[in-house]
Amino acid sequence: MPRLSEKDMQKKMEPIRVNLERSGSDSYEIDIGEGVLDRLSVMIKAQDGVDRCVVITDSGVNSLYGEMVREKLQPAGVPVDLIEIPAGEASKSMGTVLDVARQLIELNVSRKSLLIALGGGVVGDLAGFIASIYKRSVPYVQIATTLVAQVDSSVGGKTGIDLPEGKNLLGTFYQPRAVFIDLSLLRTLSDKDFKNGLAEIIKYGIISDEEMFELLEQERAAVVERQLPVMRILVERSCRIKARIVEMDEQEGGLRRILNFGHTIGHAIEAASDYRLTHGEAVAIGMAAAAKMSYRLDYLDERSCKRIVGVIKQYGLPTEIPGDFNTKAILGFMASDKKAVGARLYFVLIRKIGVPFVTSEVPQSVIIDVIEGLRR
Ligand code: GLY
Repeated sequence: MPRLSEKDMQKKMEPIRVNLERSGSDSYEIDIGEGVLDRLSVMIKAQDGVDRCVVITDSGVNSLYGEMVREKLQPAGVPVDLIEIPAGEASKSMGTVLDVARQLIELNVSRKSLLIALGGGVVGDLAGFIASIYKRSVPYVQIATTLVAQVDSSVGGKTGIDLPEGKNLLGTFYQPRAVFIDLSLLRTLSDKDFKNGLAEIIKYGIISDEEMFELLEQERAAVVERQLPVMRILVERSCRIKARIVEMDEQEGGLRRILNFGHTIGHAIEAASDYRLTHGEAVAIGMAAAAKMSYRLDYLDERSCKRIVGVIKQYGLPTEIPGDFNTKAILGFMASDKKAVGARLYFVLIRKIGVPFVTSEVPQSVIIDVIEGLRR
């Protein structure tokens, strides 16, 4: 992709529609830009007889944006309540589900009420899960406040909570009524959370959008400064890719698996680190591994493999496994990952940048060699 043109920067963004009629779910729109939350109340009025709204958010997001969102909801003309959960992955638990559900009952939340997930992946996954089971399901909306949520977790209807045995082991596919992505919220994001989201954007470039991959190569300075014109393009293109994949394969029967590029080894490294590595860092290492595996198996040329590792490094994400990680432990976590079907381990590999495929035919010796080769 050429450097950003004046036209790219000025472009007005239309909402992205996620068409799901074919799979029997309701379609919805992803509204991306600055100030899109002004349209929240319009969307609520357009729904059929919403009797109240309940915002579910975490302590960190509430202090930054809770009041602002309450104000944006005023014109909808319905009572608004807010439930706060503690910030952090530990809130994705059955304990929090029960606690929030009891508060919803106390607030007389009915099937005509609308839940609003205001936050990142934890809040979105938890609130979506509660929405899918509370009184046999109530509608919900996602307001994505982190970059990971804006490009990945708020779109596509995966909901879930963790168990002591592993992450996301209880969950549903349950689509939101709408997704709101206000890019100005990125200003308050920590560098760590921003990088987590960048790892997912890099993933979309590798699996589906060579132009966006080139943009990432060329516009590092603008991206790390979170300049809005470039962020708008990256978030929009990522959401479009995700929307098109979810439309074709809502429940991950096949194609949606390509979104797990870098995640087979990434999840295992994340678990082996006892979650000291962030998801983005682990996926970054996993993507370097998947590129090297694709090269080792002669699917990918050496230059493309180097470009992939180069982009990941360029954004300050790791491409090597810390030395104290045991290959056996990583293999063990890979085998117990919920995405391993039977005894088979599935990998998303690439033939070139933008052309992924799923295979279970990677010899164990190559998996071990690649992991060993990634050691610092
Ligand atoms: N985050 C992967 C997916 O939504 O399928």
